Amino acid sequence: MAILRKDEIKPKDGKLAVLIPGLGAVATTFIAGVFSIRKGLAKPYGSVTQLSTIRLGKRTEQRKPLIKDFLPIVGLDQIVFGGWDIFEDNAYQAACNAAVLNREDLDKVKDEMSAIYPMKAVFDHNYVKRIDGPNKKTGTRWEMAQALRQDIRDFMKKNDCARAVMVWCASTEAYTTPLGVHESLAAFEEGMKKDDPAIAPSQVYAYAALMEGVPFANGAPNLTIEIGALRELAKKNKVPVAGKDFKTGQTLMKTILAPGFKSRMLGVSGWFSTNILGNRDGEVLDDPDSFKTKEVSKLGVLDTILEPSAYPELYEHLFHKIRINYYPPRGDNKESWDNIDIFGWLGYPMQIKVNFLCRDSILAAPVALDLALLLDLAQRCNMYGVQEWLSFYWKSPYTAVGLYPEHDLFIQQIKLKNTMRWLMKEDLITHLGLDYYDMLEH
Ligand SMILES: NC(=O)c1ccc[n+]([C@@H]2O[C@H](COP(=O)([O-])OP(=O)(O)OC[C@H]3O[C@@H](n4cnc5c(N)ncnc54)[C@H](O)[C@@H]3O)[C@@H](O)[C@H]2O)c1
Repeated sequence: MAILRKDEIKPKDGKLAVLIPGLGAVATTFIAGVFSIRKGLAKPYGSVTQLSTIRLGKRTEQRKPLIKDFLPIVGLDQIVFGGWDIFEDNAYQAACNAAVLNREDLDKVKDEMSAIYPMKAVFDHNYVKRIDGPNKKTGTRWEMAQALRQDIRDFMKKNDCARAVMVWCASTEAYTTPLGVHESLAAFEEGMKKDDPAIAPSQVYAYAALMEGVPFANGAPNLTIEIGALRELAKKNKVPVAGKDFKTGQTLMKTILAPGFKSRMLGVSGWFSTNILGNRDGEVLDDPDSFKTKEVSKLGVLDTILEPSAYPELYEHLFHKIRINYYPPRGDNKESWDNIDIFGWLGYPMQIKVNFLCRDSILAAPVALDLALLLDLAQRCNMYGVQEWLSFYWKSPYTAVGLYPEHDLFIQQIKLKNTMRWLMKEDLITHLGLDYYDMLEH
């Protein structure tokens, strides 16, 4: 793959359509946030592309531009939002229902939010059993994929967009594993024509996006693009893809804490995580099939960070348990408890309790923003297929087949920033730093 770097990167001019299947809590918090920031009413807290600096060159050079000034990523004023949902509510009404942001804040961007009406969704109740709604497409999966492609083209034309990205923010689908119909693009297209129920709605959206040359990010733990057919299509059409499952809440904390224990060679014998949440996501996850998808995505994290096969005496007997409890009174304001049993010198046990009163969508919205901007950049750099450098943002990062994912947030951050440096032909930073001791007095 000939990646375009620095001056070769295609220009960021024109409007970027950010197309979102699922106008629920995460999506509307993301959209309302961008509108508020554009109006100068809020700051982009939580967004690495907007707030973080990146060190360039030697520490003595003092070069630390903001990432948004360093990388040729689009500005927030270039974004146009569109989306699909099974409910007919516009983005303002959906945001009010999601109740993440308060009315006072939402009313300041009411006009912009009210203008976003969801397009008709591709939905199969067998994949999301706890909800259903009226705003749905009809026909075979093949016909619905063609209709989605038309939606994308119409939206871009109507809004005069130069490019688009798709970020899946719809409900978690039931747990599935790849079957024959998912193996190759030919089998997949044949399957869609036969309306094979093994093809999930999220896969129909991803197919439509990739066919239109639109990068796809999977914010949910669904299988979606981890199948031969869509990997093949991403490569064939040279489109970047990234996933899966926005890294927020309890898993974010896990990927912050676990690397710390491992770096100090402290053992972990148990990690019990329980949550209460009351939003629609919680309701969907109350269904065992959807919960299974989420559980698999969350469970993998500790194993890959702690590497029990390399450190059996520290982590082999780790008991890891995750519970998600639907508890409506809490709405989007989730509360999680972690009990971590660790041990140190001579095997003496210690306990850590983490009680995180988090707001999931407040953590997810800036992640969705960064991913939209960075996937658009990847597309303009001719980076296609799986974008592992974006692992930083995911609970369960995609990798090339046969490669294990990197879950450690700090390694992910180094990878993210070094890829940014590499794209802009700056030196990679190894943190070795010995040369300073030849240059400077000490
Ligand atoms: N909130 C977080 O921090 C967080 C973190 C990681 C992942 N996620 C995932 O992001 C997704 C969205 O979370 P949320 O809290 O916004 O949930 P939500 O229930 O508020 O919103 C999901 C929306 O998707 C719609 N939908 C369902 N199936 C659809 C389809 N096939 N096409 C179009 N729309 C469809 C629903 O009607 C709903 O409006 C979930 O899959 C969740 O697991 C959320």
